Amino acid sequence: MKRLNTQLQEDGCPLELILLIRTLLAACKEISFRVSQGALAGVLGSTLSDNVQGERQKKLDVIANHILRDILSESGYVKAVSSEEEDNVIGCHPDGKYLVSFDPLDGSSNTDVNSLIGTIFSIMHAPQWMEPDDPSAFLQPGTQQVAAGYVLYGPSTMLAMTTGRGTHLYTLDKTHGGFLVTKANVQVPEQTNEFAINSSNQRHWEEPMQSYVTDLIAGSEGPRKKDFNMRWVAAMVGDIHRVLCRGGIFAYPFDKRNPAIPGKLRLQYEANPMAFLMEQAGGLADTGHGRIMEVMPTEIHQRVPVLLGSKDEVETCLTYYR
Ligand code: AHG
Ligand code: MN
Ligand code: MN
Ligand code: MN
Repeated sequence: MKRLNTQLQEDGCPLELILLIRTLLAACKEISFRVSQGALAGVLGSTLSDNVQGERQKKLDVIANHILRDILSESGYVKAVSSEEEDNVIGCHPDGKYLVSFDPLDGSSNTDVNSLIGTIFSIMHAPQWMEPDDPSAFLQPGTQQVAAGYVLYGPSTMLAMTTGRGTHLYTLDKTHGGFLVTKANVQVPEQTNEFAINSSNQRHWEEPMQSYVTDLIAGSEGPRKKDFNMRWVAAMVGDIHRVLCRGGIFAYPFDKRNPAIPGKLRLQYEANPMAFLMEQAGGLADTGHGRIMEVMPTEIHQRVPVLLGSKDEVETCLTYYR
């Protein structure tokens, strides 16, 4: 089986980016180990603090954040990092060539029930003019990502990653500690009969999403004339991994309860990296009003509506918005 290094070289990835990715994955292997120890390592449960999003931090959110932040800061490849669990950008090395945004632990509510969780990351070039702690350098659209991916801590530890030459799936070989390519150039099926959405929020969605999901649920008796299945892992890494592997549509739409907040998921370390992976696998990723990767960010913790997955199904959903 092909090793990570070989795949990255074949994809024309520059040496310094390969070294950065390997450093980041070393941190993820450490997180994978801590996660797998569960209650034995005393890592489950909540802390007494909230993050900048107003969410109560789990112990694993904080541990994963520290592991990533510290390993990346000390690597020399990174000028600054931004994280879901940090209020502000953290300056790293003045000569670092890259910026890394990450969701250290996605699916926090799954930690205490031994269910799917993961780490999501997005890498961009650091502008030369920037001071290491300048947040404005992070405000680049997702089209500027040079690499993105997630590590899924499931029954096996898997990596989905793109550097702009297709999306590849890797599995961590825990016997020697390396990620091996287990599926190169993933292609998301264009059609699907699976959707993933938290439909308990249906009454709060905008009209187009309400009608679209109503038609999905109407199944073969409705206008779509086929039956759909619904799946919800409560961790986008898990739901989107399913979509990447077998097709589907995943959505976290705008919610009218708080018009000032355009969605639950965060653009820089959730929506953009997932959009890059999905597009590189032949799928689509949209907000309902345009391509996710073309959204011009205004702040590092900005939220966006997310609608992504199988090409034909996303296009069908978008017709409800037009
Ligand atoms: P995080 O744990 O990083 O805060 O992200 C959780 C997100 C996302 O992974 C998931 O799809 C969604 O929250 C689940 O939301 P519900 O509470 O609506 O199920
Ligand atoms: Mn969170
Ligand atoms: Mn998340
Ligand atoms: Mn998180």
